[in-house]
Amino acid sequence: MRHLMKDKEHLFRMAALFVGGIVLFVIVRAVMLPKDFGKLGHYRPGALEDNAKRVPVFAGKPACLECHTDMIERQKGSKHAAINCEACHWALSKHAADPSVKPVRPDAKAICLVCHTANVAKPKKFPQIDPKTHMEGGPCNECHQPHHPEKGPEKPAVQEAKK
Ligand code: HEC
Ligand code: HEC
Ligand code: HEC
Ligand code: HEC
Repeated sequence: MRHLMKDKEHLFRMAALFVGGIVLFVIVRAVMLPKDFGKLGHYRPGALEDNAKRVPVFAGKPACLECHTDMIERQKGSKHAAINCEACHWALSKHAADPSVKPVRPDAKAICLVCHTANVAKPKKFPQIDPKTHMEGGPCNECHQPHHPEKGPEKPAVQEAKK
């Protein structure tokens, strides 16, 4: 027997190493795999539930307009009517679910410049301004209503009447 193994021993050792590796892989795989893996194919079905449990941070424009109904009238005819409220106001689902969570008013100038600062990479048709030269860099909402920038500022009386 000994002389039979003489020239092949290294092969058996190699084979043993492979078998050891495969056994280790099978054990680690059995320990690490989530229980429901494979029920719906190469996938963990529990991931669907996990994602469904996540609370959305954006409420969406239809939700905003349910309460802020005046905004439909105020935005009528404006190109800004097409923009989602939360593009400027950022995620407000907590406020939409409970209005006593008061949102911070966005800083008009900072937010306007995100979209309207002139940049050669933007389509030529998109309205762009150089904030240094456009109206001497004055505060944007002194001349443009954020919700209807084609119009001048709302009269204070209009703002008061709404309250
Ligand atoms: C359930 C009704 C409701 C929903 C939905 C709602 N709001 Fe409001 N929102 C209110 C009320 C009421 C106030 C007034 C709170 C106050 O003046 O103290 C308010 C105030 C605000 C203010 C602050 C006004 C200020 O004076 O500074 C902003 C901005 C605002 N909402 C934006 C939004 C946006 C954007 C959405 C959609 C994501 C939204 N709201 C959804 C009821 C709602
Ligand atoms: C282009 C950016 C922009 C969009 C889009 C936008 N807002 Fe505003 N909103 C502002 C800014 C800037 C202010 C703060 C104005 C100020 O301080 O004078 C503001 C203020 C407000 C206020 C409080 C003051 C007021 O004018 O009544 C409410 C309420 C409000 N937004 C609701 C909404 C809702 C609802 C929508 C979606 C229908 C919306 N906004 C879409 C920029 C935006
Ligand atoms: C999320 C991006 C975004 C933000 C933020 C934004 N705008 Fe706009 N704005 C637009 C889009 C989109 C249009 C429509 C462009 C078009 O179709 O020609 C527009 C149109 C305009 C126009 C009309 C130009 C015309 O052709 O008559 C003015 C003025 C304007 N915005 C000013 C402002 C001001 C002031 C602010 C800040 C309160 C602001 N915008 C914030 C995206 C934005
Ligand atoms: C003193 C008043 C005033 C101030 C302040 C002002 N604007 Fe204007 N803006 C105007 C007038 C008037 C027009 C229309 C005439 C023109 O295009 O020059 C205009 C036009 C625009 C346009 C459309 C440009 C186009 O090519 O169609 C955009 C976008 C704009 N403004 C954004 C802003 C932003 C952003 C700010 C703040 C950084 C701002 N404006 C500050 C008065 C003002």
